[in-house]
Amino acid sequence: TGGVITIDPGFKNTGSCQSAITFLNGEEGVLRYRGYSIEELAEKADFLEVAYLLIFGELPTQEQLDKFYNDILDNAIVDDDVKKIIDAFPKNAHPMGLLSSLTSALTAFNPSSVNVDSEEEMYNAIVKIMGKFPVLVSWSMRKIKGLPLNYGSRKLGYVENIMKMMFEKPNEEYEINPIVKDALDKLLILHADHEQNCSTSTVRVVGSSHAGLFASISAGISALWGPLHGGANQAVLEMLEAIKADGGDTKKYMAKAKDKEDPFRLMGFGHRVYKNFDPRAKIIKVAADEVLDDLGVEDPVLDIAKGLEKEALSDDYFVKRKLYPNVDFYSGIIYRAMDIPVEMFTVMFALGRLPGWIAQWREMRLRKEPIGRPRQVYTGENYRPFVKINKR
Ligand code: SDX
Repeated sequence: TGGVITIDPGFKNTGSCQSAITFLNGEEGVLRYRGYSIEELAEKADFLEVAYLLIFGELPTQEQLDKFYNDILDNAIVDDDVKKIIDAFPKNAHPMGLLSSLTSALTAFNPSSVNVDSEEEMYNAIVKIMGKFPVLVSWSMRKIKGLPLNYGSRKLGYVENIMKMMFEKPNEEYEINPIVKDALDKLLILHADHEQNCSTSTVRVVGSSHAGLFASISAGISALWGPLHGGANQAVLEMLEAIKADGGDTKKYMAKAKDKEDPFRLMGFGHRVYKNFDPRAKIIKVAADEVLDDLGVEDPVLDIAKGLEKEALSDDYFVKRKLYPNVDFYSGIIYRAMDIPVEMFTVMFALGRLPGWIAQWREMRLRKEPIGRPRQVYTGENYRPFVKINKR
């Protein structure tokens, strides 16, 4: 329409929406959910409470939380035919690919969750995915470990059920380890939302076409999978293991990360918004020490990680580019101490980010935002007439 189009690769300086959910201040390393600081929520709240806060905007009363959880439990069963989809996947399939497929498949088994326009229809779709997603997450892990697929229990809380479904062995009574429970609550809260990051923007754009909630979340899972985004937590552990196998020579990897010819990046460092410490990384670093200590786990890569961080924080290249550890740098060390396989790390990120994706999708739909459809600057050929193949 003749208006001026400015290109902004990666949308570094483009706001896509107004939102009342999460506040970030990248310069000061501030992160708040609905006005509450991440430090307080990680310390004092549990994950389901924070999920309610993100989605509905207020910390719940006990009665509101109980109703929310009961509605979730009423929807925490997955159609048995979904197991046939899991069986059809090769054993070495990456669980993020399995999870995005299964999440999209939920639409087929819950057709009423597609055309949701009223708040009530949205609520019904929300409690369905809040109930079924942890089952799909644990089934993805149990497939990797060759364990039979299972369910949670109405006697357990939301995170306790995640633990039971993920970790219980067929021949033993599963005991909830309070250290693991607290650490998981904290990690899931810290991952719960992060304003308009790549995967959340994906959920919003897909949802803006009025595709169903499950299809929108499935698209978000695919975006999160990338090693530049949530996939970084797996890439960090693989990098730390490579450094350990290489004799722990962090200087060599720092040099690689600065070599413009080499595409290698120091995984778990840098952030589009935080030009200071990622406040989540600070909390997770402390938790890593505590959890490994409490669990009596010695993991040499924790020391390698700390050594790498120390070097990077005093390296001109990193300091000039304001490259600090981000949320993905220490999280995998804790997941590994919980005996979670490395390929499941990004799935754990998705489990934490689920309420944030839901909250952002719900806000976008309630505000009746227009379909996401950006413009472009055309740089291709001018008009040219068709030439028959025998004339080319
Ligand atoms: C998450 O957006 C979110 O909020 C995401 C997230 C969330 O909660 O949703 O916080 C979760 O995704 C955290 C980020 C996880 N990714 C990684 O750890 C992968 C490694 N980090 C990068 O690839 C990078 O830092 C990004 C992707 C996180 C940010 O990239 P940007 O903002 O596009 O910055 P850039 O690629 O333009 O880099 C700026 C400069 C470049 O050097 P110059 O061209 O200016 O010389 O910094 C360099 C980059 O080469 N750089 C790095 C680096 N990250 C950036 N150099 C070495 N190692 C790195 N990790």
